[in-house]
Amino acid sequence: MKHKLAKLIDVPIDKWSEHTLQTENGLTSVMIKRGHAEWVAFVNECPHQGRRMDYAENAFLETPDHQLVCPAHGATFDASTGFCTNGPCVGQSLTQLQVSFDQQDVFVEII
Ligand code: FES
Repeated sequence: MKHKLAKLIDVPIDKWSEHTLQTENGLTSVMIKRGHAEWVAFVNECPHQGRRMDYAENAFLETPDHQLVCPAHGATFDASTGFCTNGPCVGQSLTQLQVSFDQQDVFVEII
């Protein structure tokens, strides 16, 4: 189901940000990065023990070689695909969300 995530103007460019959605199953935290050409969004939940990927408000750790780091136990994830490349959940992935937008708002698809 498609959910409005945020207003376009509230999503920073080239930086991860966190947005919380109300869905049928309760609140869902989403992390999203708006690149210059592409958008990437994941459920903000590490597949290892379900901890959040942000270590402070709108603060995510991405290395220069585009690995997202879980602040809990250090698992690393490809920032484009969400695939775990190192740490306690190798072979698993962050849950990637399909992103769409219109002239004002950003939407994600949550099943
Ligand atoms: S919860 Fe993310 S590495 Fe353990």
